[in-house]
Amino acid sequence: MNNMKLAVMSETIAGENRVATVPDAVRRLVAAGWEVYVQSDAGIRSQFTDVMYEQAGAVVSPDLAAVLPGADIVAKVRPPTPEEIPNIPEGTSVVSFMQPAADRDVIKAMMARKITAYSFDLLPRISRAQSMDALSSQATVSGYRAALIAATLLPKFFPMFMTAAGTIPPAKVMVMGAGVAGLQAIATAKRLGAQVRAYDVRTAAKEEVESLGATFIQLDLEAQEGSGGYAKEQSEEFLARQRELIGKEVAASDVVITTAAIPGRRAPLLVTREMVEMMSTGAVVVDLAADSGGNCEVTEPGKDVVMNGVTVRGLSNPPSSMPEHASFLFARNVASFLELMVKDGEFAPDFDDEIVAGMCVTREGMIPNDAVASVMNA
Ligand SMILES: NC(=O)c1ccc[n+]([C@@H]2O[C@H](COP(=O)([O-])OP(=O)(O)OC[C@H]3O[C@@H](n4cnc5c(N)ncnc54)[C@H](O)[C@@H]3O)[C@@H](O)[C@H]2O)c1
Repeated sequence: MNNMKLAVMSETIAGENRVATVPDAVRRLVAAGWEVYVQSDAGIRSQFTDVMYEQAGAVVSPDLAAVLPGADIVAKVRPPTPEEIPNIPEGTSVVSFMQPAADRDVIKAMMARKITAYSFDLLPRISRAQSMDALSSQATVSGYRAALIAATLLPKFFPMFMTAAGTIPPAKVMVMGAGVAGLQAIATAKRLGAQVRAYDVRTAAKEEVESLGATFIQLDLEAQEGSGGYAKEQSEEFLARQRELIGKEVAASDVVITTAAIPGRRAPLLVTREMVEMMSTGAVVVDLAADSGGNCEVTEPGKDVVMNGVTVRGLSNPPSSMPEHASFLFARNVASFLELMVKDGEFAPDFDDEIVAGMCVTREGMIPNDAVASVMNA
């Protein structure tokens, strides 16, 4: 006898095409004893129809009153909105992306409703958690898309061509920030035949960049290692020196893809207006950090800014532009997380587990995580 029920709501934030579960993951969860309820058309923008969910064993209903009651946990991509929260019964759990600094009001509303909220943004990056690492799965999509978008915006070929009409040199691509998204952008640009160089403030990135056949740009700067494999927040002095050293590398590039981020902080400014002005006409900057302030001074999220013939694309929510596979991977992450929440066929989160405790944003109207509490109280 089991007693686990998952509810999946449609995403209502404009421009969000992903969904928190897909038929493949429903099959896996149903086989593990879950009842899965899905709001009608939740998957339609990711190419998953209601019939596909039903065939996988889900109950699909247009009525949230049929989807949500009795759910142990609601899965979403984006945090529930203030309009959605009153529909979620008190005491239910919710799992989604959720940033304590950016989503403060939503988190407070969930506390008031005694919702237990878990955020993929807070997943500890330990090897046991890799199958639940939604930040990485979505960053993989973002990096891939960034390279493809750069290739289509650039009025040149990426690969070298030796033709009867003459030889075309390969495009010079520079990737700033060689984390999960940056490495995927490097791999994709390499597959398209570009000449790729990359830079990161973490020393471990050098080997990873080189293993993809790209050149690591070594600057005369101290490494900026934080905890958990992340970069630490850098001083304005460090960033100013970095900009001074990187300027000529930017000017020599046909394409610059920026992916640099510091968890929970504004993205560091790496590419100034002056550097964009120094790039050749037709060059392209694709800024993956557009939604967190931008790595480029010129960036406007969701827009193309053309300056002196250089196009700066501020990518907003890039995984949503490839929703089928982004949702497929996200749903796998959700299913792995849900498996961790079950004991003897019951939904029974173990708050002594490092992953459960690390991801928990609110519980019983409180914020159990000190780091989250300090951000919320700041
Ligand atoms: N389960 C695991 O163990 C696990 C999972 C995922 C990632 N990781 C580690 O974490 C690393 C970073 O993860 P992410 O991609 O989510 O990071 P992220 O999205 O927070 O940042 C992207 C990249 O920007 C870099 N960066 C920050 N400031 C910069 C600056 N001023 N100039 C240039 N680059 C700058 C960071 O070092 C990082 O590589 C990974 O490469 C990996 O080593 C570990």
